[in-house]
Amino acid sequence: MATETPGESAWAAAGGRIGPRDLASARVLLDRAAALTTPGADPLAVVAVLRREFPETEPALVGEAATQARLRARAAPRLGPRAEHLVLSDAGLQQASRWAVAAYRAGELHRRLQASGTAASPLVADLGCGLGIDALALAEAGFRVRGVERDPWTAEAAAVNCAGQSGVAIVEGDAIDANLSDCAAAFCDPARRDPGSPLATHGRGRSARVIDPARWSPPWPWVVQVSRVLPMVAKAAPGLRESAVPRDAEREWIEVDGELVECCVWFAPLGDPGVRRATVLIGGTAFTLGSAEPDGVAGAAATADAYLLEPAAAVRRAMLVGALADSLRASGNPVGRIGDWLTGSRDPETAWVRAWQVEEALPRGSRALRDALCGFGPITWKTDAIRESAEAVDRRVGHRPASGGRSATVVMLDDGSAWLARRAPHVARRDGNEVGERFP
Ligand SMILES: C[S@@+](CC[C@H](N)C(=O)[O-])C[C@H]1O[C@@H](n2cnc3c(N)ncnc32)[C@H](O)[C@@H]1O
Repeated sequence: MATETPGESAWAAAGGRIGPRDLASARVLLDRAAALTTPGADPLAVVAVLRREFPETEPALVGEAATQARLRARAAPRLGPRAEHLVLSDAGLQQASRWAVAAYRAGELHRRLQASGTAASPLVADLGCGLGIDALALAEAGFRVRGVERDPWTAEAAAVNCAGQSGVAIVEGDAIDANLSDCAAAFCDPARRDPGSPLATHGRGRSARVIDPARWSPPWPWVVQVSRVLPMVAKAAPGLRESAVPRDAEREWIEVDGELVECCVWFAPLGDPGVRRATVLIGGTAFTLGSAEPDGVAGAAATADAYLLEPAAAVRRAMLVGALADSLRASGNPVGRIGDWLTGSRDPETAWVRAWQVEEALPRGSRALRDALCGFGPITWKTDAIRESAEAVDRRVGHRPASGGRSATVVMLDDGSAWLARRAPHVARRDGNEVGERFP
């Protein structure tokens, strides 16, 4: 059974490692550790200075403060300035949602619940809340939140991290036993790491990703079961197979800072049945495109035009390249399709594509390509990574970079053609030229 998180840290008292509450109360030490943790600073030297400056402080607490400072610095790009105030663990940070995604998803949940007539600030269960990043985002979006976390150290860290945010309660226990009877909705972000690895608790180091959703924790089949009794949104790996998702759910692939980070599943009634959605988050703006129709293949181009357009990874994963081509055409950008790439006479300057200016057609075939590139320096291969990785192309072609030769980018398309191309500046115009809706 789940139990309330104890008010006091039991960690130090039990002679174990330093607990989150001990860390949170050592603010002066943490501030000093942060000031010393400049880029490239030697961790041992940081600890030595702290030991000298805080001679009365337990050495284990000093060491943990230095670790926290490093984790906070590492977390800043994902979590923004709030990382400076959080208690983190290596395992928790690796699994934590990026703030931009957590905030977007929380806002979406609010919008979708309101659209279905749910009360203004309902209670949402965060099942497997980790360090509490999503719990914080849900609370900021206007929800009351009950975070449930099985790992005691992580649960205490979540309680510390959410202490300043009203309406959040963290419960230490198994999500499978959690009381959901008073909740209006649930969010679940299952752990997708090998439970046998040290990172399953609070260890350090890399752990293997678990591919089979039935082995995630909580297990995916349980998440699906809960979705039948409670409106549910869940975070899953981008590669989640279609058969693992009920037909009436909506899958949303989310990309942030050019990286495809997750497949978010909106179970019925929160999602539009069968819709595949691609969402690109750029600087606080969400561009989104969705369809339940099979991807169209109309508009094939015989050859590349002046620009090759690489659709966002979220668009390709959601199998929406045809829908994107239609939308671009509808907004005055005639484009043709070559495999999962598009081509056109100009850069449509949208969040949906990266544009490459075509410089020269290259011959087909590995040997001819190697000869054509003789004298060039290092080559960056742009491929459809799902079919052949850039490393594999590099090996296949066997290009030897000439010393002093100019570096170049070669785009290899599905039809076997290859193009010397130059990257156009990435522009996501906010002047109405973009495709899809915008969210604040
Ligand atoms: C991917 S992390 C959640 C990260 C969180 N969304 C965030 O952004 O900070 C999954 C968490 O679920 C916890 N967990 C795994 N199985 C659980 C279970 N059965 N009950 C409660 N928590 C569980 C793990 O300890 C881990 O902290």
